[in-house]
Amino acid sequence: MPQVISVVSGKGGVGKTTTVANVGAALAAMGKRVLLIDADVGLRNLDISLGMQDKVVYHFNDIINGQCTPTQAIVPHDKYLGLQLLTAPQNVLSSQIDKDKFKELVLGLKQNYDYVLIDCAAGIDDSFVMGAMAADMVIIVATPELISVRDADRVAVSLEKLAIEQINLIINRISVDMVKKGDMIDIDTIINTVAVPLIGAVPESSEVIVSNNKGRPIVLSANSYAGKAFLNIAKRITGEKVPILKEKKRNIFRLLKK
Ligand SMILES: Nc1ncnc2c1ncn2[C@@H]1O[C@H](COP(=O)(O)OP(=O)(O)OP(=O)(O)O)[C@@H](O)[C@H]1O
Ligand SMILES: [Mg+2]
Repeated sequence: MPQVISVVSGKGGVGKTTTVANVGAALAAMGKRVLLIDADVGLRNLDISLGMQDKVVYHFNDIINGQCTPTQAIVPHDKYLGLQLLTAPQNVLSSQIDKDKFKELVLGLKQNYDYVLIDCAAGIDDSFVMGAMAADMVIIVATPELISVRDADRVAVSLEKLAIEQINLIINRISVDMVKKGDMIDIDTIINTVAVPLIGAVPESSEVIVSNNKGRPIVLSANSYAGKAFLNIAKRITGEKVPILKEKKRNIFRLLKK
């Protein structure tokens, strides 16, 4: 069972942070002890998606540099029991982070949790390498656009070179209306191009934008398809068999194949 999961993408703005916040909240709601680490050095925003921006004081590099203890830097979420956040520094470059020490920190911290989710920066530079070095599993997030799919493919190739064994794909922001009009790439093309197993498909939803702005993960909203999709991803991570084809009443897969 994967314990440290890094969430990456080629193209930016595809939903990595949203995924980490929602899947993390879902795992915590399932009773798991979950640590979310923001590894988007310089441009962190997982704290905002979780509504915790006023609570974080120290970041992971403070622990690495001996300026605080993990207990001082790791902040518990007040709504989701078991969900904790370790944020990223804003005033250094990711190239300045000691990657071996970051890995050492994650391997030490993971003893206290069921899952550690790492929110990486887009691209295949330092943050990606940090996340990949520490991970048992890497999830690539892509949107159904050619640019994003091609970049996701480059990421998958980079991960294979790093000998990451478990790699999965999330397709986020699937627009049913665009699919109906034939304006969106079909899902088989995406899976064949990126050539890694799909772990989830999340619809485009304005509720996701609202939830990010309010700092409230959407995953437990009873009527949200996007929330349900993130919940199902969390279940699949725990090993539960949740069929992807049945996760949405309007069956995005059938539409995407048209
Ligand atoms: N399924 C969705 N439906 C609608 N909007 C979404 C969805 N997923 C993410 N978004 C929106 O897309 C934007 C980017 O999301 P997010 O910050 O999670 O991406 P990211 O990959 O972490 O970006 P970056 O590469 O900058 O770190 C946000 O405004 C978010 O609210
Ligand atoms: Mg992000």
